[in-house]
Amino acid sequence: MNDTPTSRRLVLLAFASITLLAACGKQAPAPAPSSSPSPSAAAPAPAAKVYVVGTDAAYAPFESQAPGGEIVGFDVEVVKAIAAKAGMEVKFVNTPWEGIFKTLDTGERDMVVSAVTITDERKQTMDFSAPYFNANQLIAVKEGSKVTKFDDLKPLKVGVQTGTTGDEVVQKLLGKTSANIKRFESTPLALKELEAGGVNAVVADNGVVQHYIANNQGAKFKSISDAAFTPEQYGIAMKKGNAELQKKVNDALAAIQADGSYDAIHMKYFGTKSTLAGAPVAAAPAAAASK
Ligand code: ARG
Repeated sequence: MNDTPTSRRLVLLAFASITLLAACGKQAPAPAPSSSPSPSAAAPAPAAKVYVVGTDAAYAPFESQAPGGEIVGFDVEVVKAIAAKAGMEVKFVNTPWEGIFKTLDTGERDMVVSAVTITDERKQTMDFSAPYFNANQLIAVKEGSKVTKFDDLKPLKVGVQTGTTGDEVVQKLLGKTSANIKRFESTPLALKELEAGGVNAVVADNGVVQHYIANNQGAKFKSISDAAFTPEQYGIAMKKGNAELQKKVNDALAAIQADGSYDAIHMKYFGTKSTLAGAPVAAAPAAAASK
């Protein structure tokens, strides 16, 4: 046979050059090194932005930490529903209430959902979504307490969570610098102190006080409402000037209110339909007018 080493080498050589040609052929459509990168050949699309949501998760039923560490609650479910509607990815990060709004300016958080009351003062340094929840202050006292109205707290020691609207209303009654205002870093800590007898009353958001009383029967608390407390509304806080995000959030909030998913979440947590009148945008001027 003529299967000599030489002919074998020739065959190999021919094969190698075909492979080389094929490889060149494959490379042909690639842009020349000097040409600007064509969009189709660019790096893979950047990963979708994950919106970081800050929340002080010691505020059940709005936000709290499940035994496994997962952040759960009404606020969390509302924001998840908003995100699903808007096609946004969100991640919740437990964030202390004190300093929580600064994280918007530093960019550490894109949104704060933390049962945040929309106030004129806060509106000067941050933007809010349309209101998503109606609230008001409520007084918690021990069952045997003689307190029947807000005014009765004047000579008493009152616990509040630092920097909340509860802190603000109590300052109005007792005076900004009153030593009788006992400030706590979380509302549950203030309520624990009421149980221990260190304070005579706690003023905080109605939903949280009611939830605490219902779930801590042993504490033997009762709640007292007072017409002096002005209606409050919760909004999702965002960095001032981020109109694009605000619109995304508001459109999605309106959509989950329209399709019933917001009501389902409200029903799950409060056993009732929302008391927000109509579309969230319509509720805003009414709240402003009452100021
Ligand atoms: N609504 C009140 C406020 O805005 C209290 C909110 C406190 N929220 C919390 N997760 N600790 O001041």
